[in-house]
Amino acid sequence: MAVLLSTKTAVMAVWRDALLALDPTLEIRMFPDAGDPADIEAAVVWTAHDMAELRRYPKLKLIVSMGAGVDHLLRPPGPPPGIPVARLVDRMLTSQMGEWVLLNVLRFHRQDLEYRALQRERSWLELPAPVTAERRIGILGLGELGTHAAGLLRGLGFPVMGWTRRPRQVEGVETFHGEDGLAAMAGRSDVLVCLLPLTPATRGIVDARLLGRLPRGAFVVNGARGAHVVDADLLAALDSGQVAGAALDVFDPEPLPVDHPYWAHPRVVMTPHAASITIPASAAPQVVDNIHRARAGRPLINLVDFAAGY
Ligand code: GLV
Repeated sequence: MAVLLSTKTAVMAVWRDALLALDPTLEIRMFPDAGDPADIEAAVVWTAHDMAELRRYPKLKLIVSMGAGVDHLLRPPGPPPGIPVARLVDRMLTSQMGEWVLLNVLRFHRQDLEYRALQRERSWLELPAPVTAERRIGILGLGELGTHAAGLLRGLGFPVMGWTRRPRQVEGVETFHGEDGLAAMAGRSDVLVCLLPLTPATRGIVDARLLGRLPRGAFVVNGARGAHVVDADLLAALDSGQVAGAALDVFDPEPLPVDHPYWAHPRVVMTPHAASITIPASAAPQVVDNIHRARAGRPLINLVDFAAGY
């Protein structure tokens, strides 16, 4: 019985070595060299893999995402019926995302765009001091990533709010849920941070309506998925001054086309889906654990809830 890996070739080799370091008896196949389809019992895949292709493996017991997100696995045609899907819940993914959120919240909070522009002009000008306790942060999504980022921001003294679809309590975070809660939190978010899973319910959630509810001159930080944001609405909000800056790690599509207005926008700070990159050696233990569990018929960990979409 074999494990199929599918992502960029160089990354696949790193995954293979990380899995073999934990269980040298695993037989690893690197897509497209799957060998006999009847051998494959687990598929560990990233965004480019075609879910229809996974229907070729009659003994498949488990699909694992190589990242925290699983929207790529759930979009039509979705995984083969009845096959469980696990995502990564990984300390290094979570901490990298926390750092990226902090970097960008602090960038906006500490007027870094303004100071960089002043430096370019060799202009010695002190701006009004920012007050941490008055910069209210609203986080969309309080899962692994959102809860961790909330803790880091709280630690620095920012007032932190969080929104989830269903009610959720997180210590030290003022929480909101549902449509009304979204409007209420947005109305007080000087920085809106998106760390939601991408589902049909959250696609396009950062639209003109939500952006229009933010206090004028608010900032947007998106480390989740590009499709959470309606780009035309964000660009309009940036151009009108309703939104004073956006930090974006994710785009729809990726790579972002070279002629997209974000690239050259003076109020947009971009990274190429690099906020949080899976480190196979860190993620491998839970993947090997799940492969062993699937073989033994034991309960799997980090399973995706298909109804919730994440
Ligand atoms: C990255 O985007 C991930 O889902 O881990």
